[in-house]
Amino acid sequence: MISRRRFSQTTFSFGLATIWAAPQCGAAQSHEQVLVAGATGRTGRFVVQYLLASGHAVRGLTRNPDRARSRYGDAVEWVHGDVRDPQSLEALYLGCDRVISVLGATERTGENTPEAVEYRGNVNLIDQAKNSGLKQVIMITSLSAGRADSDPALVARFTGMQWKNKAEHYLRASNVPYTIVGPGGLRDYEPRLQGIWFQTEGQITVGTISRADVGSVMAEAARNPAALNKTFRIINDPDLPVDGWRDTLSQIPVDA
Ligand SMILES: NC(=O)c1ccc[n+]([C@@H]2O[C@H](COP(=O)([O-])OP(=O)(O)OC[C@H]3O[C@@H](n4cnc5c(N)ncnc54)[C@H](OP(=O)(O)O)[C@@H]3O)[C@@H](O)[C@H]2O)c1
Repeated sequence: MISRRRFSQTTFSFGLATIWAAPQCGAAQSHEQVLVAGATGRTGRFVVQYLLASGHAVRGLTRNPDRARSRYGDAVEWVHGDVRDPQSLEALYLGCDRVISVLGATERTGENTPEAVEYRGNVNLIDQAKNSGLKQVIMITSLSAGRADSDPALVARFTGMQWKNKAEHYLRASNVPYTIVGPGGLRDYEPRLQGIWFQTEGQITVGTISRADVGSVMAEAARNPAALNKTFRIINDPDLPVDGWRDTLSQIPVDA
């Protein structure tokens, strides 16, 4: 049964410190519902935490809701779905305003590969968002995904990059409002230790970023219109002020 549930933050048990969970001072709380694909993932968990902190209701798409509920509690409405199966997605969108994809393939070869999950799975999410009239699709890719068009050596080294690249092209051409977030190497260090450097294509070629900081940026994109129809790459930068990126977001140009 899909409902529009709202949960108290106190029941949210992702086992993470709450120092960064407080919403930005003075920021309005959201009343929207967001479907998060990849909500159980190492980065998706942070996306969820920030969304809940800013008042969103979160529906978490997972292949195993019982496991998700036992590990992460019931602050999220856990729903069963597999992005490889478009028919499993339709009902999950009911009542949702936006969808965030933090999907990651779990196999290099086999059935749950980058092509199946990060390209075809994201295509299924985007198509369903279009059919359901959602306000926005927010999708994680990678710092280097844009270069897969022109850098065969990169594709040879990171075979999944071409599929992230194709997902980016598909989303930009979909006519669904979107935000594409391409982070550098994901790290498990704490959030807000450093600033976040936001740039457009080709301006950053190497760098790393805290998974929690990526979660913060993706959740912000769900409520900040300045993020709409933009593709940006992000890495941590110790020389930037910790929260300065919130202003930088509006300076990133809309995609051509
Ligand atoms: N590693 C890096 O340095 C790096 C850098 C830049 C970008 N990235 C990208 O960032 C993304 C997130 O990475 P991560 O490490 O946070 O991912 P992760 O921990 O491996 O999580 C993967 C998530 O995808 C979900 N998933 C996988 N197959 C699915 C399917 N068929 N249907 C529905 N859900 C499915 C899983 O959900 P369930 O198991 O609950 O179903 C899980 O929540 C990935 O695309 C990754 O390539 C990684």
